[in-house]
Amino acid sequence: MSAAAEPSNARLAESLLAFWAEAGIDSVLADEAVDRIEAGRVAPPPRPPPPVTALAPAPAGRIAPGGRPVGPDVATAIAQAQAAAAAAGSLEDLVAAIAAFEGCPLRYEGAATKAVVLRGDPKAPLMVIGEGPGAEEDARGEPFVGRAGRLLDRMLMAAGLEGRVLITNTVFWRPPGNRTPSPAEQAVCAPFLERIVQLVQPRMLLLAGGASAKSLLKREEGILSLRGRWFEWRSADGALELPAMPTLHPAFLLRQPGAKKRAWIDLLTLTERLDRPDRPH
Ligand code: URA
Repeated sequence: MSAAAEPSNARLAESLLAFWAEAGIDSVLADEAVDRIEAGRVAPPPRPPPPVTALAPAPAGRIAPGGRPVGPDVATAIAQAQAAAAAAGSLEDLVAAIAAFEGCPLRYEGAATKAVVLRGDPKAPLMVIGEGPGAEEDARGEPFVGRAGRLLDRMLMAAGLEGRVLITNTVFWRPPGNRTPSPAEQAVCAPFLERIVQLVQPRMLLLAGGASAKSLLKREEGILSLRGRWFEWRSADGALELPAMPTLHPAFLLRQPGAKKRAWIDLLTLTERLDRPDRPH
């Protein structure tokens, strides 16, 4: 390419910004501004990663709408979620309990206050569990209604699963900038997720993306190694067990269309088991 034909830095920056905006990256995640000039002179020591057992600390002075300070410790938040989930006798009660729950800090990190909980058939034989709501889901209050959700819907329809699915996520508030939800945030939401499974009683789970698969299956491998394999998901108390298949996240498929074939194979494998005559539903 001749120098004249090369895109300018401004064009490259514009195109990169457009790509990020499309992917839902619309905010800066660092807590403090970085002085790049100073950083160039003396490289600061890397910050240690946050401990898995602690929720992100609430900024000083931040309070919940009810006037209480935000950010119980993770064990307290999980206990509160367990109690609220157990008390919900129906999906409607559960959705209301999640909406009223103040123990997950994601609720106060830029997400709309409305929780994004579920969409689909409350008696579905299949539950799809994604990572967490994105910008469009946050705005509309329903999971998987953005570009990735439209792709997911098309794939489910093509596999003959339209109307036979309930869709939810590992967390119910949008992580800022669409970052991956932390294990602690997922742990706080997990009692609600388990209660959804208990109330819906699906026959199997499809885990969309690595953050969902790792959290639900307590595995460390990457999604490329987990996808397309059958695992047994167990509830925390061991009372529930279901076959679960991890697959590639539809947002990943939008970025890497060449990977669609693998996700399609996963979906067909799952549908074949779901529709086997010895598994009536
Ligand atoms: N990605 C997810 O994991 N879940 C959604 O609801 C939307 C996008």
